[in-house]
Amino acid sequence: MDKRQELYRGKAKTVYATDDPQRLVMHYRDDVSAFDGVKLAKLDLKGETNNKINAFVMGKLAAAGVPTHFVRVLNERESLVKAMKMVPVECVVRNVCAGSMAKRYGIEEGRKLGEPIFEFFLKSDALHDPLCNDDHIRVLGWASQHEIDEMRALTHQVNAVLKPLFAAAGIDLVDYKLEFGHPTDDPTGPLVLGDEFTPDGCRLWDATTGEKLDKDRFRRDLGDVIGHYRQVAQRIGVPL
Ligand code: TMP
Ligand code: ASP
Repeated sequence: MDKRQELYRGKAKTVYATDDPQRLVMHYRDDVSAFDGVKLAKLDLKGETNNKINAFVMGKLAAAGVPTHFVRVLNERESLVKAMKMVPVECVVRNVCAGSMAKRYGIEEGRKLGEPIFEFFLKSDALHDPLCNDDHIRVLGWASQHEIDEMRALTHQVNAVLKPLFAAAGIDLVDYKLEFGHPTDDPTGPLVLGDEFTPDGCRLWDATTGEKLDKDRFRRDLGDVIGHYRQVAQRIGVPL
């Protein structure tokens, strides 16, 4: 496998072409961003820590029957993935009220939800990822009703796998964001989980102390961001 030209530079990862048009290299940089790219920093060891956490979680999800784009780890900060055409929406499941949901409805952070709540957001930094519903997605042509149903079902399925995985390590999975797409070699087949699952895109609280172990440490200037990411890795059994 040959790494070729840079295709896309996101806020924390860079995507490269390979000699195989169906495969891409995902390179995890040490960059961290929050508030739609307004707050930026570089954190030592972030790239390799997230590459390893993502590989571990994607492996657990695949083993549980969730289709993912992940192929294999290439080196400390790179993984090989399937090339995908992504649906431009973000799928969030919440087990505990926090973040934008707490703000939007004036509910205190930390209120446990009687059942998981699913939300869609349009993926657009310029528009600050506005909340949207099935009708917006279908009528505006971002995805079909079938794809909407698949994204909702897969995002809940991920909860059924990861909530107990984190709970076994004494960590509450408060919420998380997923993105889906179609592999370019199967554009009309089922949706596949893309992007990443790392502490950048979820909230993880210590089940006993409530300590935040995720990107809120950066957003809210709580300090030692990567020390806490690595604590998560070590507690769930990711080899670092
Ligand atoms: P929110 O409370 O800001 O809506 O975020 C909910 C969860 O989704 C939280 O774990 C962070 C994650 N998320 C991202 O990773 N990127 C995003 O652009 C958004 C909107 C949420
Ligand atoms: N993922 C977005 C950003 O990096 C939003 C956030 O995490 O606060 O800007």
